[in-house]
Amino acid sequence: MKQEEQLVAVKEYTISKLGQDTTGHGMDHINRVVKMSKRLAAGENVDPFLPMVAAYLHDTIDEKLVTDVPAAKQELKGYLQQNAFTADQVDIIMDVIDNISFAHTLDGEKIQLSIVGQIVRDADWLDAIGAIGITRAIYYGGGHQEKIYDPQIKPRHNMSREEYRNLANETIINHFDEKLLHLKDMMNTATAKKIAEHRQQVMKDYLAEFHAEWNAEK
Ligand code: ADP
Ligand code: NI
Repeated sequence: MKQEEQLVAVKEYTISKLGQDTTGHGMDHINRVVKMSKRLAAGENVDPFLPMVAAYLHDTIDEKLVTDVPAAKQELKGYLQQNAFTADQVDIIMDVIDNISFAHTLDGEKIQLSIVGQIVRDADWLDAIGAIGITRAIYYGGGHQEKIYDPQIKPRHNMSREEYRNLANETIINHFDEKLLHLKDMMNTATAKKIAEHRQQVMKDYLAEFHAEWNAEK
C-alpha cells in the first residue's frame, strides 16, 4: 500500500470518528493540525509521513470524546494493521496519541515524547492559541455553559488533571491564564516556538482590549 493511500485511509477513519464533532475537535481542527505538522516536520528535517498520520488520529481516542478509551485504542490498532502499517509504525503512532494531551502535563507527570510526538503536540497546541485559539476557547466555553468572565472567579494555578476537567467555576477568560498563555513556553520545535511568539501577542492584545472594554475604559 502506498503512503498516499494510507493517508487517505487514516483520514477516512478520522472522519468516521470526528466528522460530526461539535466541541472544537472536528475535521477543521484535524486538517489544520495535519497541515501544521507537515510544516513543522519540514523545519526539523523529519519525514512528514508519521507526523501527518498521527495528526489525523490524535483526537480519535481522547478521553473527552470517546466513552471507552481502551476499546477505541484496540479498534484503531486493528485498523492500522489492516492498512499495512508496520508494528514499529503502530507503536510510534499509538505512543504519540496516548501522550500529547495537555492533561498529561498536569499532576507532575513527566512525558518524554518522540520527535513525531513533539511535532504533533506543537501543531495541536498552536491550534489552541492565536486567533484560532481564541475562537476555539469561546466556542468550547459556550458549548460547556461556561461564563464569559467573572472578576470574582480567580484563575486556578497548578491545577490537577481533575480540576482541569471540572468546569463548574471556569470562565472563558480564565482559561487563557490557566492554560493558553502557558503553551508558548512549552513548544518543542524551533518553527513552533517562532509561530507561537506571534500568536501569543495576538492573545495578549485581545485580552488587554477585553479588559479595557469590560471596565468601560475604551
Ligand atoms: P487537550 O486535547 O490538549 O487536552 P483540550 O481538548 O482540553 O486540550 O482543548 C481543546 C480546545 O478546547 C482548546 O482550544 C482549548 O483551549 C479549548 N478548551 C479546553 N478547555 C477549555 C475551557 N475550560 N474553556 C474554554 N476552552 C477550553
Ligand atoms: Ni487536537
